[in-house]
Amino acid sequence: EKDKLEVFYKMHVDAARFFFQNLSNNKEVREYLYKRGIKDQTIRSFGLGYALNSWDSLLKYLRSRRYKEEDIVKCGLATKSEKGKVYDRFRNRIIFPVFDIRGRVIAFGARVLDDTKPKYLNSPETPIYNKGTHLYGLNFAKKNSKETSLVMVEGYMDLISLSQAGIQNVVASLGTALTKIQGRLLRRNSEEVYICYDADTAGQKATVRGLEILQAEGVKVKVVQISKGKDPDDYVREEGKEGFLKLLENALPLMEYKLIQEKEGLNLDSDEGRITYTKRIAEILNELDPIEKEVYLQKVSEDAGISERAIRKYMGNQNENSSMDTS
Ligand code: CTP
Ligand code: MN
Ligand code: MN
Ligand code: MN
Ligand code: MN
Repeated sequence: EKDKLEVFYKMHVDAARFFFQNLSNNKEVREYLYKRGIKDQTIRSFGLGYALNSWDSLLKYLRSRRYKEEDIVKCGLATKSEKGKVYDRFRNRIIFPVFDIRGRVIAFGARVLDDTKPKYLNSPETPIYNKGTHLYGLNFAKKNSKETSLVMVEGYMDLISLSQAGIQNVVASLGTALTKIQGRLLRRNSEEVYICYDADTAGQKATVRGLEILQAEGVKVKVVQISKGKDPDDYVREEGKEGFLKLLENALPLMEYKLIQEKEGLNLDSDEGRITYTKRIAEILNELDPIEKEVYLQKVSEDAGISERAIRKYMGNQNENSSMDTS
């Protein structure tokens, strides 16, 4: 069925051209992107487009190019209702083509032009698109950047704004649930990863989960902290390239980030807070190599005002308990 896949790839290119043409023809929709600071050159580089406010404009176009309705539905570009009616999946939305590492269009993301929900619609899983195995923008990062590190952001607009500002070593996980396969892809394509998710609750939760996956895959990782409520797109538009580079410089090593996380919600001026904090950290310290352990033990001891000796002893007891558990 290799031929079939070739048809699917071709269909995506044709659809991307159609969307791009629609956007070129529609000043009003382009205004939306201009208002967000996106320039024409960037629209071209990323092949941004527009899905018309119609139930069947893409369908008609693809049919005219001899694609079978069945295949259009298989690619998720159209949907079949229970009654058997077929209609365009994306309507009246800005289109973001998703490329694979070789630069082939394999899917689309589509954003509303206002505050309607859902904000984004994406291609479903198809024979050529398995969401969790790709990173948006990796093809561009590989082509346009010599950096050995990669910055990982959440969304299309984060990556596009950073790229327009001149920061090219960026990939987007598209949403927040990083997979193992994406973790491996990051390891294979970089020496160090900066997690730079949105500074909101969803983004922070995703940061913790992402860190665990990257750590398990053996990726060297740092955490970038953006001012509350913002995302990389907001930040780079306000602070520019220099501002964002400063943010990267100040990125926290994994352990520093964990110390801050564990402190969250605790009052280190209270005995209870100091005890909870120290015990939580002790568990994490146990996972470190002896040198790292030494460094952070000292930090935690100072932070919590509890002697290194006591923390060591607590960690020793924990180890004994766990070795007894497994014997
Ligand atoms: N996303 C999605 N479906 C949604 C919401 C989000 O697929 N309903 C994905 C998109 O890839 C989006 C990313 O998650 O780019 C991050 O989501 P969010 O932070 O909510 O959107 P932004 O990218 O910041 O979008 P914008 O700036 O256009 O509001
Ligand atoms: Mn977000
Ligand atoms: Mn965001
Ligand atoms: Mn937003
Ligand atoms: Mn945003």
